[in-house]
Amino acid sequence: MEFHKILTARKSGRAFSDRPVEPGKIERMIEAARWSPSCANRQPWRFVVVEKGVPGRLALEEALDPGNAWAKRAPVLIVAGARKADAAVVETREYFLFDTGLATMSLLYRGVDQGLLVHPMAGFREALVKTALSLPEEFLPVAMVAVGYPGKREDLDEEARKKDEKPRVRKGAGEIAFRGLFGTAFQGTLPATPAKVYETDIPLRFGDIDAMGHVNNAVTMTLFELGRVKFFAEVFEARKVEDIRFILAEATVRYRVPILLQDRVRLRMFITDISRSSFRFRCELFDPRDGRVFTEAETVQVMYDYETGRPCPVSPEFQEKVKDYVGG
Ligand SMILES: Cc1cc2nc3c(=O)[nH]c(=O)nc-3n(C[C@H](O)[C@H](O)[C@H](O)COP(=O)(O)O)c2cc1C
Repeated sequence: MEFHKILTARKSGRAFSDRPVEPGKIERMIEAARWSPSCANRQPWRFVVVEKGVPGRLALEEALDPGNAWAKRAPVLIVAGARKADAAVVETREYFLFDTGLATMSLLYRGVDQGLLVHPMAGFREALVKTALSLPEEFLPVAMVAVGYPGKREDLDEEARKKDEKPRVRKGAGEIAFRGLFGTAFQGTLPATPAKVYETDIPLRFGDIDAMGHVNNAVTMTLFELGRVKFFAEVFEARKVEDIRFILAEATVRYRVPILLQDRVRLRMFITDISRSSFRFRCELFDPRDGRVFTEAETVQVMYDYETGRPCPVSPEFQEKVKDYVGG
C-alpha cells in the first residue's frame, strides 16, 4: 500500500473478526519494529506476541480494563514495553518510552499495510500484565496492541459501538506545529484536496488488448502517458512535444482490476507536490459508469532543459498554472 494510504487507513477500530492472522504478517510487523530508529541505536523495545490459546492469554485478557473488553476478541495481542536501563539518557531525557513508541508505530503501520486492524491501548493493569507474561521486574509494559482482521460493528456491545462511531478529531496544524518560534502557528499552503482534478477520457483501441483478453500492463502505462500529454495540451496549451518541458523520471503503478475492451476508461490526475526541479502526479484510470478503479499510478516528472541536457528549476509560470491541481 502507498504510504499516504496507510496513513489514512489506520484507525483505532474496535470490531475484530475471529479470522486468525497469518504468522507471516505478525513476523513482518516485528521486522518493521526492529528497523525503527532509536537514540544511540539502543533498541530498548521488547514485544511479547500473545495469540489465542497460548498460556498467559486468558490472564492477559483479564488485565484489560473493562472498557477494553472488545480487545479480547482480537486473535493477537502484542505487549510493547522496555526497561529504562536498556535505553539512552541524554541530560534529563530518558528515551526508552520514546524509542518504544517509534517502534510500535512502525509495527502498527506494517499491520495496516497488510490489511490488518491494529489498536494500541494503555487501558490495562500493569501488575496483572507482568504476572501473566512473566515480565522482568524492572520491565515496563507501555502499550498493548490488539491485532486482527476488521469484523462487524454490530458484534460490539453498545458502549464499544458508540466509541467506535465517534467522529475522529484532530487539533489544527497551527495548534501543534509552530514555525520559527514556539507559539507562532505553522500555516500550511497545501489544500487537503486539490481545487480541481484533471479528468480526461481515454479511448481504448482493439490493439490495446493482449492475448489474456485485457489491456496489457505495458500498454496501461501508455494510457497514463496519453493523459499527461493531454494535461499539458489543455492546461499549458502545449502544441508540440518540445513545449512539454518535463520528462518522466519515475513511475509506480498498482494494477487493481483488469481493463477489458468493453470498459469505459477515464483518467483523473492531480499534482501532489512540486519541488525545485520536479513534481509528482497521482493518477487513476477508472470506469466513470460505476467508479471501478482499474489502475493507480504515481509519477515523478523532472523539468528538463533539452539544450543543456540537464534538469532545471521549475518555473514560476508552471507553478502559477498548476495551482488548482495541487493537492495535499
Ligand atoms: C498510548 C495509547 C493508548 C491508548 N489507549 C487506548 C485504550 O486503552 N482504549 C482504547 O479504546 N483506545 C486507546 N487508544 C487509542 C486512541 O484512543 C486513539 O488512537 C485516538 O482516539 C485517535 O484515534 P485513531 O487512532 O483512530 O486515529 C490508545 C492510543 C495510544 C497511542
